[in-house]
Amino acid sequence: MVNALVPVITVRLGERVTLTCAVSEKSQSITWIHWYKQSAGGTLNLIFMHQKSINPSFEPGFPASRFSASSDEKMSNLTILRTVERDEGIYHCAHMDWTKSTWYGTYLSIKGNYKI
Ligand SMILES: *[C@@H]1O[C@H](CO)[C@@H](O)[C@H](O)[C@H]1NC(C)=O
Repeated sequence: MVNALVPVITVRLGERVTLTCAVSEKSQSITWIHWYKQSAGGTLNLIFMHQKSINPSFEPGFPASRFSASSDEKMSNLTILRTVERDEGIYHCAHMDWTKSTWYGTYLSIKGNYKI
């Protein structure tokens, strides 16, 4: 199956948002989950990677004060605690095991500055 459309999530500036990524229930514990961010016109930037049930460490540029991750058997979640404008972009979750990698993308749109 080909997912032709990337789902769009829109939040207001400063709001919290959780991006989710389904993980195959058949996958082994050896599976790695990678999360990447892609800004308009840019390449992929690694946010974090983790193996199931191991706490991820975030890459520079994605401070633990604004980002958190949680996962269980079925999904991996990336939460942005307070969105800022530069968070807008496509977030890719890649789920990799020995034989294949599965990619899933979400476009995060940040709506203008209503509060100021
Ligand atoms: C991931 O997020 C979804 C939707 O917000 C939630 O239902 C689920 O419990 C979360 N899972 C984990 C492991 O945090």
